[in-house]
Amino acid sequence: MDVISVIRTKRDKGELSPEQIDWVIDAYTRGEVADEQMSALAMAILLNGMNRVEIARWTAAMINSGERMNFAQLSRPTADKHSTGGVGDKITLPLAPIVAACGAAVPQLSGRGLGHTGGTLDKLESIPGWRALLSNEQMLDVLESTGAVICAAGDGLAPADKKLYALRDVTGTVEAIPLIASSIMSKKIAEGTGSLVLDVKVGSGAFMKNIEDARELAATMVGLGTDHGVRTVALLTDMSTPLGLTAGNALEVRESVEVLAGGGPRDVVDLTLALAREMLDAAGLKDADPAKALADGSAMDVWRRMIAAQGGDPDAALPVAREQHVVHASESGVLTTMDAYAVGVAAWRLGAGRARKEDQVQAGAGIELHAKPGDKVTAGQRLMTLHTDTPEKFEYALEALNGGVFTSPEGTDFTPNPIVLGR
Ligand code: URA
Repeated sequence: MDVISVIRTKRDKGELSPEQIDWVIDAYTRGEVADEQMSALAMAILLNGMNRVEIARWTAAMINSGERMNFAQLSRPTADKHSTGGVGDKITLPLAPIVAACGAAVPQLSGRGLGHTGGTLDKLESIPGWRALLSNEQMLDVLESTGAVICAAGDGLAPADKKLYALRDVTGTVEAIPLIASSIMSKKIAEGTGSLVLDVKVGSGAFMKNIEDARELAATMVGLGTDHGVRTVALLTDMSTPLGLTAGNALEVRESVEVLAGGGPRDVVDLTLALAREMLDAAGLKDADPAKALADGSAMDVWRRMIAAQGGDPDAALPVAREQHVVHASESGVLTTMDAYAVGVAAWRLGAGRARKEDQVQAGAGIELHAKPGDKVTAGQRLMTLHTDTPEKFEYALEALNGGVFTSPEGTDFTPNPIVLGR
């Protein structure tokens, strides 16, 4: 087998054979196919697509590139959630403890942010002492003792995806439905969860900008999960505006703790509970009540134990950025746009995200919103507060927000998108 013939097949809109797929994934993982060759193939896939048979084989080859975990020895059914990525998406933080408090085991192998989307591990690392890296044994211990664990995927899990995702990120080939679906599902299937709920984001701050593409991505992933014996459901959810009122690492942890304490923004609470119900249903715990786990404090207890089990201090003060800049509304009316992509890029420029994998994020950096689409605003009122340790970045962040915030005259007929757009 040679890589040039594999690239040519896809370049010329052909179907890759199972042998070609198995070979190219294995050879790339072992370093025998060069990055430039794999990026040519990824671009051919982005432009010409893959059919269901090819996607299934590609996913299986990525799973087979590494180890598989097994949670069969746990005393509870497993339930996992994966989001395709968005701005202010802190849902995993309150969700994992809520679902664990209802009786499921929640193994959340999470990632770091890159570009304008945040990463769950970066958020949790703003808690003093908290560690993302656990061995498989430590992960199982935390899962068995607290019911939930949020940690980095070990190097042995789907190593082909680790290499390929990093390559796609720097070659403009992230947004290919077959590649996103196989990337997410190879990790989830290798992780060994019994059930999976996918949060497929739609809108300016998501990889999928329109509902048709999001639906296709969701259907592809649900098909892959089901074929591998994982009960899989997908919700399509709005990412035209940031989730909640914060985007940035420590800011989002603070908001998540507010949700666990029974408060927090409505959209975060609604989406967390919608996903929790789906996870509990998929795990066979239909009678569990996630709203009760929030109200009676049992989800907060799991959170505290889960953070402490990974070295974190749940009572420690969260980092605060050294400088703040307040943006005021320039006119009165109804806020009709608070664009997720613009806010995500601005938060990233303030230091909440990284441009290259090896960059450090600022724990306190980000954006706090004081109004959301649908709110009435008065000229001069606070619209948002920008936080950073590097104030020279304010101007650069404000540039990103240009055109991302609109106010329409009072009386304008405007209804914000619902948070759940479809199932
Ligand atoms: N998240 C992943 O894990 N992979 C992708 O390709 C996109 C989002």
